[in-house]
Amino acid sequence: MTTDLAIETRGLVKVFGGHRAVDGIDLAVPAGTVYGVLGPNGAGKTTAVKMLATLLRPDGGEARVFGKDVVRDADAVRGRVSLTGQYASVDEDLTGTENLVLLARLLGHGKAAARARAGRMLEAFGLTGAAGKQVKQYSGGMRRRVDIAASILNTPDLLFLDEPTTGLDPRSRNQVWDIVRAVVAQGTTVLLTTQYLDEADQLASRIAVIDHGKVIAEGTKGELKASVGAGSVHLRLRDPEHRPEAERLLTRALDAVVQLDPDPVALTAAVTARGEQGAAEGAARALGELARAGITVDTFSLGQPTLDEVFLALTDKPLDVTKEGATA
Ligand SMILES: Nc1ncnc2c1ncn2[C@@H]1O[C@H](COP(=O)(O)OP(=O)(O)O)[C@@H](O)[C@H]1O
Ligand SMILES: [Mg+2]
Repeated sequence: MTTDLAIETRGLVKVFGGHRAVDGIDLAVPAGTVYGVLGPNGAGKTTAVKMLATLLRPDGGEARVFGKDVVRDADAVRGRVSLTGQYASVDEDLTGTENLVLLARLLGHGKAAARARAGRMLEAFGLTGAAGKQVKQYSGGMRRRVDIAASILNTPDLLFLDEPTTGLDPRSRNQVWDIVRAVVAQGTTVLLTTQYLDEADQLASRIAVIDHGKVIAEGTKGELKASVGAGSVHLRLRDPEHRPEAERLLTRALDAVVQLDPDPVALTAAVTARGEQGAAEGAARALGELARAGITVDTFSLGQPTLDEVFLALTDKPLDVTKEGATA
């Protein structure tokens, strides 16, 4: 197995009472990157992470972290990873400072060093003002930040972030995203699980989409989107009277349904990839036809499909993030 992989799994399986929560997962996570594991509730994300973090024993297949087997070399793996997420190590009754000092002491730092480290982390995470408050008084966003601070007290080589922003407001999510970027900039590999497509899109360089314990798609963001094979063009015409003709030409050129936007000069259409031809070529051809017909296009944009559309195309069902625990 290659050494520049932070994680490598083959046919990883976990069975709970006959139910295959993780059903033969193959992963290759390059070191030094954020790798996104995207899937709905109950997909098997936490179970997979727990096996990789040596907290659960696999029932089949194998998994290596920096080349070390998670079962045979569990101690070596534990020394290099850290986990934060749906269950956290911080004590609600202790203050932010007390929690971080305690954890730093457990990690072997001396008293003064532990206090200094805790202080620096709280400052870096914007928690200095709340340092003396009990964690149970923290907001959701503060709580998540102290969780992450606790998990990176000793800079791990691999950090598991299990749904780090589930339930957070947009501002807190952005703060967590900034932290993730900073952690990766320090050289840590991050395995991030998420139900949020935009989160994987923002942070991850590669993404595995999982559903019912299986990887249903894997690749870079671009590859994933390309495999779904579509983009959408949006254009605005100079003259609203040209719109019916533009609609007719676009429908033929793109072989797609053209939507008429409320704005009387605007049209939107999906670009279907045809064979080797990419979305950009299809869009360019359509623009050429409009020009030949004497229709002036004022603005034009070609967008890649969102990850929401990717998931819908891959699973035939939309990602429903409102059904917390419904699939469990
Ligand atoms: N300790 C457990 N005992 C029994 N079933 C479990 C246990 N942990 C998870 N499961 C089941 O395994 C499946 C995957 O769960 P999980 O890994 O938590 O999914 P996710 O993190 O993607 O939401 C779910 O059907 C869940 O109910
Ligand atoms: Mg989970």
